[in-house]
Amino acid sequence: MEYLYILCLLAPCYATLNNKKFPDDFMFGTATSSYQVEGAWNEDGKGENIWDRLLHTNPNFTVNGDNGDITCNSYHKYKEDVALVKELNVTHYRFSLAWARILPNGHVDQINEAGVQYYKNLITELRANNIEPFVTIYHWDLPQTLQDEGGWPNSNIVDAFVDYARLCFQLFGDEVKYWMTFNEPKNTCWQGYGAGTKAPGIKAAGIEDYLCSHNLLKAHAKAWHVYDEEFRATQKGQVGIVIDSNWWEPSTNSSDDLEASETKLQFTFGWYAHPIFIGDYPKVMKNNIRRRSLAQGYTKSRLPEFTPEEIEFIKGTADFLGVNMYSSALVTPVENHDVNAIGYEADSEVRDWLSENWKRGASPWLVVTPWGVQKLLRWIKEQYDNPRIIITENGYSDYDGTLDDVDRIDYIQQYLSSVRDAMDEDGVDVFGYTVWSLMDNLEWVYGFTNKFGLYNVDFNSPNRTRTAKKSVGVYQNIIRTRCLVDDCIDS
Ligand code: NOJ
Repeated sequence: MEYLYILCLLAPCYATLNNKKFPDDFMFGTATSSYQVEGAWNEDGKGENIWDRLLHTNPNFTVNGDNGDITCNSYHKYKEDVALVKELNVTHYRFSLAWARILPNGHVDQINEAGVQYYKNLITELRANNIEPFVTIYHWDLPQTLQDEGGWPNSNIVDAFVDYARLCFQLFGDEVKYWMTFNEPKNTCWQGYGAGTKAPGIKAAGIEDYLCSHNLLKAHAKAWHVYDEEFRATQKGQVGIVIDSNWWEPSTNSSDDLEASETKLQFTFGWYAHPIFIGDYPKVMKNNIRRRSLAQGYTKSRLPEFTPEEIEFIKGTADFLGVNMYSSALVTPVENHDVNAIGYEADSEVRDWLSENWKRGASPWLVVTPWGVQKLLRWIKEQYDNPRIIITENGYSDYDGTLDDVDRIDYIQQYLSSVRDAMDEDGVDVFGYTVWSLMDNLEWVYGFTNKFGLYNVDFNSPNRTRTAKKSVGVYQNIIRTRCLVDDCIDS
C-alpha cells in the first residue's frame, strides 16, 4: 500500500484507504492526561507537582506563559467530558491519575480523600456509560516533594512509585482492568532530565536521563510484579506500559542508513522495550555509550548496568504494549562525530531531520507520514515476538482548533488505514486505537497553541465550552461501521 500514499499528495486519499473491516472486538478510544486537562491545581488538598512549580516560577517555559492551573477544568467538568466520550461511542477512554492529587506529598502516609473520590467518580461515570477506563498511573506530573528528594534519577523513587501504584490498584482496581504504568518514558527522562524541555526542566543529558530511565524501568517492573502477585487473581486486569517512537526512515537505501535507522529505533523504542520484552538494554546502546564514556574519561559507562537478577525481574513485565506514534523522520549516521559530546542524542551517532515533502501539523515535530506506523508496527512485531499492541496515542495538531478540521480527518483515516494494513499484511496483533485527544488542551511547552482535540475548547470562556469538530462525526462513523470506506469487506 505504501506507494499509494504518494498519490495522497496529488488527490484525495479516500481511494487508497484499507477496505477491510476492523475486527468486532477492536477497541476505538480517545485520550487525555491529568495535567493537560484537569486544572484545579491546588483545590481540595491536591499537592504541588513539578509542572505547577516549573510553570509558576518560570512562565516563559511555555508559549504565552500558558499553564495547567485551569486548562479544560475537567476536575469540575468530568461528567460533561464523559458525555462527550459517550457521544463519540468509543469503547475506551484513556486518562491519567495525578499522583499529587491522590498523595499530596508523593508518599502513601498521607492520602487525599477528595482526590481519590474524584477518580472514583470519573471511573463510575465511565462504567455507567459502558466505557472501559484505560488508566495511566504516571503521565509526567511528579509530586514536587519527590522531585525535591531527587526525582526520577534518585533510586528512592522506585519504592515511592510502587507504593503509589499498589494504592491505585487497591483503590480503583475493582473497576479498572487496563493499567499503564508509564506514559512515554523517553520523554519523562530525556526531556525532563536530559534536554530539559519538560518538567522539571533539568539539563543533564547523557547522565540523568539514563539514571531516570533505569529507575523508571525498575519501578515499572516492580509495579507489574505487585499487580501479578497481589491483585491479578482477584481483579483480573492487565498492566502494560506506553512507549513512543517516530518511525525512523533510512534517508537512502545504503547499508549505513539502514543501520542508522535500526540504531535510532533501539535508542528510542528499544531503550524501554528491550529490557521488558527481551532483557537488558539494546546492545547498540550498551556498546555506544560505554565506548564513548571511556573515551570521555569516565571509568565506566554513563548507562547504568542491570544485575542479572534485575534483567530477569524486568523481563516479561508487560501484559500488553501501548504505542504512541504520530510522526517520522529521516536518518543517517553522523559523520566525524564529536566523541566528546555527552548526550543521549550524541550517543546514538545518528542524525535525523524532517523531509520537506512531508505535510506538517502545528507541532514542529509532527509530519503526516501514515506509512510510518505500519513500518513501526512491523518492526515491533519482529523485534519483540509479536506482542499484543494498542495504539495508545495518535493524532494531529493545528493552531486554531478549527471546527472544519479536514486535515485531522485525513490524518486519522490514513493512519488507521496503515494500522489496518499492518494487521492485515504483516499480522501485527493490534487490538485497539486511541485518538489523542478528546479535546484541545495544554500541549506542554506549546501551551494552548497546538490543538489536538476532537472537541474544540474555548479557553476564553469561563465555562471552557466544548464544541464538536467535524472529526467527531467521522470518527463516530468509523466506530459504527468499523470501516474506513463506504463498502468494507469483512475481515
Ligand atoms: C505525547 C503525550 O503523551 C501527550 O501528553 C502529548 O500531548 C501528545 N503526545 C502530543 O504531543
